[in-house]
Amino acid sequence: MKPLGPIPAVFESIDGELAIGGRKAGEIVAEAGDTPLFVYSRDRLSRRVETLRAAMPPRLRLHYAIKANPFAPLLGFMAGLVDGFDVASGGELARLQEAGVAADRVSFAGPGKRDRELEQAIAAGCTINLESEGEARRALDIAARLGVAPKLAIRVNPSFELRGSGMKMGGGAKPFGIDEDRVAALGRELIAEGAQWCGLHIFTGSQALDAEAIIETQANVLQLAARLAADIGADLPKLNMGGGFGIPYFHGDTPLDIEAIGAALEQRLADLPPGLAQTELCIELGRYLVGEAGVYLARIVDRKVSHGQVFLVTDGGLHHQLAASGNFGTVVRRNYPLAIATRFDAAPEEEASVVGCLCTPLDRLADAAHLPRAEVGDLVAVFCAGAYGATASPAQFLGQGPAREVMV
Ligand SMILES: Cc1ncc(COP(=O)(O)O)c(C=O)c1O
Repeated sequence: MKPLGPIPAVFESIDGELAIGGRKAGEIVAEAGDTPLFVYSRDRLSRRVETLRAAMPPRLRLHYAIKANPFAPLLGFMAGLVDGFDVASGGELARLQEAGVAADRVSFAGPGKRDRELEQAIAAGCTINLESEGEARRALDIAARLGVAPKLAIRVNPSFELRGSGMKMGGGAKPFGIDEDRVAALGRELIAEGAQWCGLHIFTGSQALDAEAIIETQANVLQLAARLAADIGADLPKLNMGGGFGIPYFHGDTPLDIEAIGAALEQRLADLPPGLAQTELCIELGRYLVGEAGVYLARIVDRKVSHGQVFLVTDGGLHHQLAASGNFGTVVRRNYPLAIATRFDAAPEEEASVVGCLCTPLDRLADAAHLPRAEVGDLVAVFCAGAYGATASPAQFLGQGPAREVMV
């Protein structure tokens, strides 16, 4: 038997069936037309942002990194909740523009920006977080051709990392950002060339559950930013402090202590060096904002036994849930939180593996889990499906195609 990850608090049931946004899972599927289906709860999104804001210093702005989930109705909803957005491509910028988000609320980070993406971002008036001196040169040239002063910030590759983060984006040789010892020279050059100087972006890692590690990193970020502002010789208009706030996916994971992070940050902000006194500060979060608001529903199409082991075969799988299957940057596969949605209140009584419909042994949604007895037609729910699900999975693999997505 292998443990399942913790189901995010609190999912209710109606008549023994999982309810999302006050509605039974089966009803939502019937209305959406079919499974597999991603369901995102507006109520959970709002409550998450509300709780986070209450814990963080009021001066801190919240940005949503849409790579976690760029579903258009979700973007439209988030536009009313957060202060800004971060995109990683021209395609993501276009999605935000289609959702009616003004480009002056958007910053664009990511290596390998093509000229046409730089032009799209500069023309729209979005802030570009520069990843290299070469990219800076191209952005300045494109802006000169367009006859505008581009909004430019520098993404710093700091010498420190976010301890314990699932994915490290700083410290040592990295394709992200500009090594900290070269930032001041570039900053001075951007200002001298007449760009709209937008400050720094220091993103060190993602999926950290240790509040102390985030507190330590935020202190390092503020210290580094103050030093760089002094070296550049200009106050920082903006500082994107990165993010890294994680969510519990696996057995034994515990929720991040955001109150501790907020309190520590409040103290630091009370005592900022002069170069940062007027700086607009933000954090940039993806999964923390949207991950737990999403549930992936798939239907059991077959129940079979092989060598004494029960397999519940669903119509979903890794083509929508690469991360839950353990194939998105995981070394050892562990079970995500999962339940039989149509028997949400039933006691577990058998060991079963929940698999997808792809003919690869990699397609596993739960391995040797303790579950209520489920039959063909039952719905399976994978939790923490609001981030890095639909668009971070190979939906076209084996001709399957994308899952449906709805907001409730
Ligand atoms: C620059 C940047 N911003 C934001 C994120 C979002 O991370 P998360 O969804 O873990 O908050 C990432 C993740 O890789 C990133 O690279």
